[in-house]
Amino acid sequence: MEKQEIRTFGRRHGKKLSARKQTLLDTVLPAFLPKNIKNTGNLILEIGFGNGEHVRDLAIRNPESIIIGAEPFMNGVAALLSAITSESDNQILPDYKNIHIWPDDVRKMLNDSDLQFNEIWVLHPDPWPKARHEKRRLLNAEFLKLLGAHLTDNGQIIIGTDHWEYFDWIIEQVKQTSLYASFPPLSTIHTRYQEKNMAETDAPKYMILTNQ
Ligand SMILES: C[S@@+](CC[C@H](N)C(=O)[O-])C[C@H]1O[C@@H](n2cnc3c(N)ncnc32)[C@H](O)[C@@H]1O
Repeated sequence: MEKQEIRTFGRRHGKKLSARKQTLLDTVLPAFLPKNIKNTGNLILEIGFGNGEHVRDLAIRNPESIIIGAEPFMNGVAALLSAITSESDNQILPDYKNIHIWPDDVRKMLNDSDLQFNEIWVLHPDPWPKARHEKRRLLNAEFLKLLGAHLTDNGQIIIGTDHWEYFDWIIEQVKQTSLYASFPPLSTIHTRYQEKNMAETDAPKYMILTNQ
């Protein structure tokens, strides 16, 4: 029987979508699903992309790479689709031809695939700050091991959060895996949640995890 995962995201649907965004989800999204992707070129995964600002940055900065963005919140998926397609005919804009979208829990995709990624980004994962919600935190040891199994030899997992308590908790989880952590300043990364600075700490902290 398929393992029932604990839900790590708040919701899948938010406020009613505009007609264009609903059309994008109904008719354009299927073409973006990550089907038939081969382990041949450079592969980059972003988990929980929100509205997709950083996925778009990745696509532009890495035109030769394939970028897969995973996000179960459909309003976020619609926001990304809207930003990467032309308003006149819903065709993909040239800068974003390398983007694929997995509109669901990333664990479903990873458990079912043998893709190896050069980079895996997780920016501002939901911190689930209340003690009774801690089990919903995505970046637990089990998940980090799953990510480690999907990294190329020199691949990197890049994690950023402004929730310092969650950051320290993730470090404790890393210790239960065979991954190595380093702590570079990556202050040039911008996402919506970073700008909201929900945890009201001074700055996001970043860590990079590798298999060696
Ligand atoms: C706090 S938001 C941050 C969004 C974005 N990275 C940013 O910095 O603006 C966390 C996102 O992670 C997504 N998320 C949570 N669990 C996930 C999972 N299992 N797979 C994929 N995305 C997930 C949520 O739906 C949410 O959009």
